[in-house]
Amino acid sequence: MPARTDAWWRGAAIYQVYTRSFADSNGDGVGDLPGVRAKLPYLAALGIDALWFNPWYPSPMADAGYDIADYRDIEPSFGTLADADLLIAEAHDHGIRIIIDIVPNHCSDRHPWFLAALTSEPDSAERSRFWFRPGRGEDGSLPPNDWQSIFGGPAWTRIATADGTPGEWYLHLFAPEQPDLNWTSEDVRAEFEDVLRFWFDRGADGIRIDSAALVTKDPDLPDLASHPSPHPYEDRDDVHEIYRAWRAVAESYGGDRALIGELWIPDAERFTRYFRPDELHSAFNFPYLCSAWDAARLRAIIDETLAIHAPVDAPATWVLSNHDVDRHVSRYGRADTSFGLDRREHGRPVDLELGTRRARAAALLTFALPGAVYVYQGDELGLWEVEDIPAGLRQDPIWRRTGGADPGRDGCRVPLPWSGAQPPFGFSPDDARARPWLPQPTGWSELTVEAESGDPSSMLELYRAALRIRRREPGLGDGGLRWMESGESVLDFVRDGRFRCVANLSSDAVVLPAHDGVLLQSADLVDGLLPPDATVWLRIGG
Ligand code: GLC
Repeated sequence: MPARTDAWWRGAAIYQVYTRSFADSNGDGVGDLPGVRAKLPYLAALGIDALWFNPWYPSPMADAGYDIADYRDIEPSFGTLADADLLIAEAHDHGIRIIIDIVPNHCSDRHPWFLAALTSEPDSAERSRFWFRPGRGEDGSLPPNDWQSIFGGPAWTRIATADGTPGEWYLHLFAPEQPDLNWTSEDVRAEFEDVLRFWFDRGADGIRIDSAALVTKDPDLPDLASHPSPHPYEDRDDVHEIYRAWRAVAESYGGDRALIGELWIPDAERFTRYFRPDELHSAFNFPYLCSAWDAARLRAIIDETLAIHAPVDAPATWVLSNHDVDRHVSRYGRADTSFGLDRREHGRPVDLELGTRRARAAALLTFALPGAVYVYQGDELGLWEVEDIPAGLRQDPIWRRTGGADPGRDGCRVPLPWSGAQPPFGFSPDDARARPWLPQPTGWSELTVEAESGDPSSMLELYRAALRIRRREPGLGDGGLRWMESGESVLDFVRDGRFRCVANLSSDAVVLPAHDGVLLQSADLVDGLLPPDATVWLRIGG
């Protein structure tokens, strides 16, 4: 069935909830679902259409919930299944849809399947759900192949047998606590289709598919070094079968359940293969997030993104930050404003004032682009990357597995500041028995929801106003754009209707084109000119 052109996800504003850091209702220092429920009026007033929850399932938290021990329940520190049911129902009452995270590449090493595999024989049915192999070398003490974990170190860990002697190795593209599932196994395929139904039955409106392109592997598990192409575990042709089956499950619920892929695929042609009419609806757009704050570069990425999506009739998506990347206020305040997962270098000078100014401009630019937009919790407050978390408090396996060479992702996962003058800033109740699971900077006292509410110069009021306008402007959201002739380092385009967006990324103020009115600006105009690092939304003649 082809994607519906009026489908809700095509132009939605989707807010990413990192539950652990959103709002802690019971004072244990960890955010939870009752905390989110209590903030639904805040989210509704922000003007978003859907919430995407990072994994909320029972998890030992070796990778912040991306190590799932049970796909059909809720992490106890987050609440219960009953809390999730209430949350879904109440969000729907507010007109907010719910997207949940499904992690098909791996589960937790505490998942019953993996525990059963550990106590079973080599070649057993239990082991066939994972990638167990004997080691290489005389005593099997070398990993089965040369694959490296994305979090650092080898992608293989050796297990001990019941009598304590070393046994087989198992594959984990991420942390050792995240064994990769074997998608040639019928059990695995059937299980996930059932998990999808479980959550669609409970009212989930869509799924975000974690590491969507990594899921299938060449069963021969060849060394990378001797395997030129196609890649043995990335973007393999057979991964598409999985999503075709999932699409059929989604369609059986009536066609408005969204399938959204996390796809880090630079090749345009291969990227679009995921949007064949019977596969995914949408995916994240990471080149835009990684781009430097540079007009020519951004324009090229915008054009390329739209060009890639148009022929397959998939909506483009735009995202500035998420739980895996440095917050963009900090990125845009550095000398090098571009970003890569492989160079998350902290400790460089950051001009937060400049970064914040650009983040404001970037928000209006992003919200004016054709397609759907994602807001990562705290973007709307202008939070910055916390770079000085003490080593003893850091939790991200990337930090540990790279021996601290990569600072990891804790700095963008710090609990939100809601109110008050000092930590926990209303994240936890006043009488909380534990401190927030990551420490909040005292400087966030100026960035609480309470402090920013009603302040016309705040990031929060900018987001509120922008999302409100985005929702009511017929030309915004899904659709096309037309570039207008503009000076170098200026992005100037019109959307259908009477809407024009001008973003000035140059170092000089620029003259505004003729217009009937200013809808919103990220910085005050100066003598009618648009200052550097600012974006304006204009009402233009019909
Ligand atoms: C995705 C998630 C990331 C997680 C990884 C492994 O990239 O966004 O947070 O660590 O997959 O599940």
